[in-house]
Amino acid sequence: MSIQEFENKCFKELNFLYSSQEIASLCKYAYQEYFGNNWPSEILDKRRAIRSDKQKLFEDYLNQLTLGNPYQYIFGYAEFYGLRLKVGEGVLIPRPETEQLVDWVLEDFGRQDNLKLLDACCGSGAISIALSKHLDSAHITGIDSSEQALKYAVENDKVYQSNLQWIKQDLFDFIPKVKFNIIVSNPPYVRYLEKKEMHLNVLNKEPHKALFVSDSDPLVFYERLRYIFNKYTRDHAVMYLECNQYLKQDLIELYSPEFIVESRNDFRMNFRMLKLSKKQ
Ligand SMILES: C[S@@+](CC[C@H](N)C(=O)[O-])C[C@H]1O[C@@H](n2cnc3c(N)ncnc32)[C@H](O)[C@@H]1O
Repeated sequence: MSIQEFENKCFKELNFLYSSQEIASLCKYAYQEYFGNNWPSEILDKRRAIRSDKQKLFEDYLNQLTLGNPYQYIFGYAEFYGLRLKVGEGVLIPRPETEQLVDWVLEDFGRQDNLKLLDACCGSGAISIALSKHLDSAHITGIDSSEQALKYAVENDKVYQSNLQWIKQDLFDFIPKVKFNIIVSNPPYVRYLEKKEMHLNVLNKEPHKALFVSDSDPLVFYERLRYIFNKYTRDHAVMYLECNQYLKQDLIELYSPEFIVESRNDFRMNFRMLKLSKKQ
């Protein structure tokens, strides 16, 4: 199979799932992954046959994509905040929007020592591990109810030698043993009614428990986080939350006037984040 034949097959077999632009990107990811850094030279002449030792990799990649698997699951990792985190079935692929939540915490607390931080619903450990690389002396705890997700968090922690504390724990039964300075969370927040806006491979392959909340009670995680923030944090504590773009007003009503509430948009200019500070 030549490069050109690979690309033609991708465009023909994946157009039920992806736009042309997305397919072009998926081809580029495969070149980067399987040819390495010198990939541009490998595809200069698209008539050239893909080297025999790489053929199977490209064929398997296309087969997996056709089955709806996200490319990050196929490669076994996702890039997040300059880190390469292991991901696979059963754990949410960390998103670029969430990097902006990490940015916000570091803007405020990047120079402080000995912080106690909770990452509630930590998934692959993306937020915790990224923060630990910049908050040397912080004591960070990540909790998640999913055993599969935590397995990835622990593996990622080993790779980056972060030595964080990971607890398999339902947020709704969580009784912390310490009081935190910071809570960060990207909890499930998509309502089932928003399903139709989602990409099929997200819907079919990523864990629903990581994504969805009921249409009738979409703020359930945010209510629980408010309780934990009130009860298990120190004076001057701050909570950073990733949020559903459509629920800004409901969330602001949930948290004010009790807390000082600030909001931010993501890079697509949709409302995406809240920062809550305790009033003194
Ligand atoms: C949107 S994902 C976020 C994962 C990760 N923090 C990230 O940003 O990539 C939400 C996470 O919440 C976890 N989760 C769902 N219900 C939970 C519960 N009741 N208690 C604790 N964690 C829960 C899921 O397993 C999933 O890992």
